This record gives sequence, structure tokens and C-alpha cells, in this order.
Amino acid sequence: MPELAYVNGQFMPLAHATVSVEDRGFQFADSVYEVLRTYNCQPFALDEHLARLRRSLAAIALDYRTEPLREIIEEAARRAAFPEAIIYLQITRGVAPRNRAIPPEVKPTLVLTVRELVPHPEWEAHGICVITVPDNRWGRCDIKTVGLLANVLAHQAARQAGAQDAIFVESDGTVNESTAGNVFVVQGGQLRTPPKSHRILAGITRDKLMEIMPVVEARVSQDDLLGADEVFLTATTVEVVPVVAVNGKQIGSGKPGPITKQAWATFRKNFRPAALSHG
Ligand code: PDD
Repeated sequence: MPELAYVNGQFMPLAHATVSVEDRGFQFADSVYEVLRTYNCQPFALDEHLARLRRSLAAIALDYRTEPLREIIEEAARRAAFPEAIIYLQITRGVAPRNRAIPPEVKPTLVLTVRELVPHPEWEAHGICVITVPDNRWGRCDIKTVGLLANVLAHQAARQAGAQDAIFVESDGTVNESTAGNVFVVQGGQLRTPPKSHRILAGITRDKLMEIMPVVEARVSQDDLLGADEVFLTATTVEVVPVVAVNGKQIGSGKPGPITKQAWATFRKNFRPAALSHG
């Protein structure tokens, strides 16, 4: 089966998957999600993603038994059979007449989709350009909820400015994260990333990179970002993305820098199966 979905207990082609218009995920973004990837049809960092999902569920007081998910995710990856796939998993509060009050008896909705991962080799060679935008998101960006409108609009603003993505910055100049990834800067040979807080998502890729590279967790300011020797982003779908310009200002040489390349190569060496090491 190619692109597929799993909705409330059943596998089906992605195009056949539907949920109710009264689903609270659709009505209120009353819902949390995870995005995993596979290497050679095997989900990567499954334990870590499930642990984060449990934290997100607990944070929105959604009572859901996650034990069966491991098997469903592995089965979905096997059935779709893309060597490199994106697995998207969403758990909503469930279907109920539209009312802000959380109904006492409501059955959560589980939706999972599997699509082929589209690589971006041009990013590896040339990097991307980003803009900074005011961080106008809500106060719990550590919860992986589907309430991503601020991220969508920031990303769109970047596209309209001729850039590929946007980085959220607080009014005091504190750099948080990009619309879909964590931020790393290199200054004087030191690799730095903002510390975990309610203002950023605790990225799995970020954590994995920190297992294998020395990284300092400390505040990054917008001036640090603009003056950095190198900048890169991390996310499940892309591993590492070099950033070569911020707000039209060139970063370093304007090309992916040596520590960025080293971080990506080290990540691949440690976590990618050899058969896929095309980088
Ligand atoms: N996003 N910060 C934000 C706001 C994100 O949306 C993501 C990932 C990350 C990186 O997390 P991880 O390394 O665990 O993927 C940080 C996923 C890929 C998405 O929403 O599609």
C-alpha cells in the first residue's frame, strides 16, 4: 500500500480517510500530534516520540492509552513500505457537539498517516534563507498541539519575503525556534541552542544531536543570530538545515559552514543506517 492512513482502528488509503466535522481537533485544535520518520522502514527514535506524546497528552489532560501505538506505528511503516517515510500521528479529544466545555465521556480520535519523505538535497548544498518574526504564539509551545496558525502565518510571511522559513523572536530579542525546527548557532567554534522552556518544542532531533556533539544550552539573542558564524535548524523531517542568511544578512561565508556540515555528518553516521547514507 502506498500513502496510507489509520483512523480509529482501521488502515485505509490516505484519500479515503475522514474525520467528523464535529471532531474537537477540527473545531478547537483540541489535539496533540507527533511527526516521526523512518529509515529503511523502521521508525526512528520511537521511544522518544512516544514519551513526548505522553507529555503532550498529559499537558492537555487527554486520557489516552498510548501502549498500542508502538505496534500501530511499526505496522503502518511496514505497510507503506517507503524506505524513508513521514509518519504523522494525531490524537484529538474526540467528537462532540461544539462547546468549549470538555465533555466527560468522549472517545479520543486517533489519526495516523504515512507519506513518502521528500528529500531536499539543495538545502544541503546551499542552505536556506530565513527571516525573524515576533513570537506571537501562545505560552505553551512545548506542547506539540495542532494549533499551528501562528507558525503557518510566519512561514507564509517568510515565503512572501523570498525566504524559506521564519524564526520566532521575543520582544526582548530572545530567539526561540523556527516554525518547524530548533535553532543552533555557532560562534567562535562553540555550538549553542536555546534551553528548553515553555517557549520552544523539545525537539527529538535537537536532543539526539546533543548526545553526539558538544552543545551549550544558553539564551541566543537576535544579535547573536545575525552575527553568528553559522546557523542551522533541526527537525525530524530534515535532520539538519543550514541557514545562510537571516533577514537578508549573509551568515558566515553564505554557504553551509564546517560545523553545520560536521553536525549533519555526525548525525547521519550515528543514526542513519549505512544503506541510506547518501550524504
Ligand atoms: N515539527 N519546533 C517546532 C515548532 C516544530 O514544529 C518541530 C518539528 C521542532 C523539531 O522537533 P523534532 O526534532 O522532534 O522534529 C521544533 C515537525 C517536524 C512538524 O510539525 O512537522
